[in-house]
Amino acid sequence: MEFLVIFMIFVSFFFLCYLFRNKNGIPTNWPIVGMLFALLVNAHQVHDWLTELLEKLDMNFLFKGPWLANMKMFITLDPANVHHIMSKNFTNYPKGTKFNEMFDVFGDGIFNVDSDLWKLHRKMAHTFIGEPKFHRFLHDKVWEKVEKGLIPVLDHASKQGLVIDLQDLFYRFSLDTICTLVTGCDLGSLSIDWPHVPFANALDDAEEVILYRHFVPMSVWKFFRWLGVGNEKKYKKAWEILDDFVYKCITKKREEKKQESMKPQVGVDLLTLYMDESQSINVTSVSDKFLRDTILSFFIAGRDTTSTALSWFFYLLSKNPRVESKIRDELSTMETIHDYHKLIYVHGALCEALRLYPPVAFEQKASVESDVLPSGHQVDPNMQIIFNMYAMGRMKAIWGDDCYEFKPERWISERGNIRHEPSYKFLAFNAGPRTCLGKNMSFFQMKAVVATIIKNYTFQAVEGHQVVPDISLILRMKHGFMVKVYHSP
Ligand code: HEM
Repeated sequence: MEFLVIFMIFVSFFFLCYLFRNKNGIPTNWPIVGMLFALLVNAHQVHDWLTELLEKLDMNFLFKGPWLANMKMFITLDPANVHHIMSKNFTNYPKGTKFNEMFDVFGDGIFNVDSDLWKLHRKMAHTFIGEPKFHRFLHDKVWEKVEKGLIPVLDHASKQGLVIDLQDLFYRFSLDTICTLVTGCDLGSLSIDWPHVPFANALDDAEEVILYRHFVPMSVWKFFRWLGVGNEKKYKKAWEILDDFVYKCITKKREEKKQESMKPQVGVDLLTLYMDESQSINVTSVSDKFLRDTILSFFIAGRDTTSTALSWFFYLLSKNPRVESKIRDELSTMETIHDYHKLIYVHGALCEALRLYPPVAFEQKASVESDVLPSGHQVDPNMQIIFNMYAMGRMKAIWGDDCYEFKPERWISERGNIRHEPSYKFLAFNAGPRTCLGKNMSFFQMKAVVATIIKNYTFQAVEGHQVVPDISLILRMKHGFMVKVYHSP
């Protein structure tokens, strides 16, 4: 009986989807359900669906969800609108309370707050990421991870003739690196035995549940949270694991500091700077909860983004041998691999990968007061505004007819320098006052990895393995990127 009911629900669902499909590809706003069916039918390929749709609709689309679900969203890729929302009228477009509630595991960290608390976080993060002591630490630890983590794993894989998942490799690399940079401790997830790391799994689970919260009305997921069942149960468990690890790091650091207070420090991690130097910027004391939210925000900022960018970069390279050979030429002109700042062509190729596969594919804002956008669209108070960076990188009106091609040359000026593209056009690192604070840090890491790998190894993608974007908060590959590793002769 139960089976019959489920079967009937499925049949009705697909029948409705068939009925509500739209021939010109533009969703119809049906009574009661709004455009929900169009979203559900295309959820598995949401980025490509939006790209096609927004190309047809001159880069602006008002999505209307079911009547009572409060799911009205204005999706825009128009650079003039982006500039207006992100910079010119910034104060009218905070992230909003809905965002804060959906991402609640990250507490009141920099990603999750607006106004004065955000200003405080921003000031502190900006100051400490810019500290010379931290730069020294960053430089040393990234090269150390490359030499003692990445190279041994790749050497082992090439000697044993193993097939490995490059995405997993880069996730482990980034996790260990960001953990060291933020807390001073190495998680040791990048090693030849590919250890199971509960903290990494907890981060993945939390992200997965936050994504699911985007697709169901808030009242529904809050009810499940209250019941403590399903995805919300998984979320709670993940939250406990994250808390446990991060609070242990804070306690350990406080203890270490008591013992080592007299030792001179050449390079230091961010947690040490938050504990030691907050007073220098007029912040009297930082609580453990403040540090916990800060650390977790850095983890999410630094792990998923850099590793996703590297994964897509190597995927694109496997499809474009011409670009790989130009990178080899550029690397052969370098006296030492540490001259990463001279890598103009590599820089262009990384920007190109970030344009086609931006790790943070969606960005959202909520309006405070009504407004009129440069495109002429009316914004009502408390309206959700969505940017899709994946679609934005594939708009002919922004990047030209060759926008689907992987062309690092696009980023290089006639004089051989990096061509600057305004952030409201190239939104991978966000724009305006909330621009990414780790941009330079991530370029350094990515160049260190790219230079080391391309100089020493070649990858052969496993034939027939499907590489497609997953439906996730970060634009991961659904099935990873499986390659065979060879040591270069
Ligand atoms: C390829 C690598 C990276 C990309 C594509 C990237 C992209 C972004 C994006 C799109 C945002 C805006 C997110 C939002 O407001 O919801 C952001 C913010 C931020 N990023 Fe990155 N990021 C990268 C690496 C990093 C790294 C390594 C760090 C350092 C830990 C970092 C630190 C931050 C911080 C602190 C913010 C918050 C800025 C604010 O709200 O004021 N990012 N990043």
